[in-house]
Amino acid sequence: MAVERTLSIIKPDAVQKNAIGAILGRFEQAGLRVAATKMMHLSRDEAGGFYAVHKARPFYGELCDFMSSGPVVVTVLEGEGAIAKNRDLMGATNPKDAAAGTIRADFADSIDANAVHGSDSAETAAWEIGYFFGQREIFSR
Ligand code: TYD
Repeated sequence: MAVERTLSIIKPDAVQKNAIGAILGRFEQAGLRVAATKMMHLSRDEAGGFYAVHKARPFYGELCDFMSSGPVVVTVLEGEGAIAKNRDLMGATNPKDAAAGTIRADFADSIDANAVHGSDSAETAAWEIGYFFGQREIFSR
């Protein structure tokens, strides 16, 4: 399997729950490497730009409010099959549907406050990583 990069966001609800270390630990335990990471408080416009693909969806406004409601941790994860591996570790969008032992089953409260974001394809991963990080901030090893 090819080495890939993917973007993870630990969302405001999980940061508020003091779960940053627990969530990053799950990625590392699964064999993913942290290639870049930083804590940020997104403006509403920055959140809206990141989720522009969902602009027409009914939940877009609330999603932007939530993502700019407190600090987040944005991370570039790297490893074999990193995109799918991260999605597996996250679990389903709605925590009610998330498999036991996944991050969303353990840390998410609802479909809108669902603890983590993860890129869903190679194309979106490249765009999302570029949204937050410059090449000189990302460290492969
Ligand atoms: P989506 O890309 O469908 O899910 P995922 O985060 O699993 O890739 O949706 C993006 C985010 O939008 C999702 O994490 C939470 C929010 N959202 C809602 O608030 N309500 C909804 O009904 C859906 C589908 C998503």
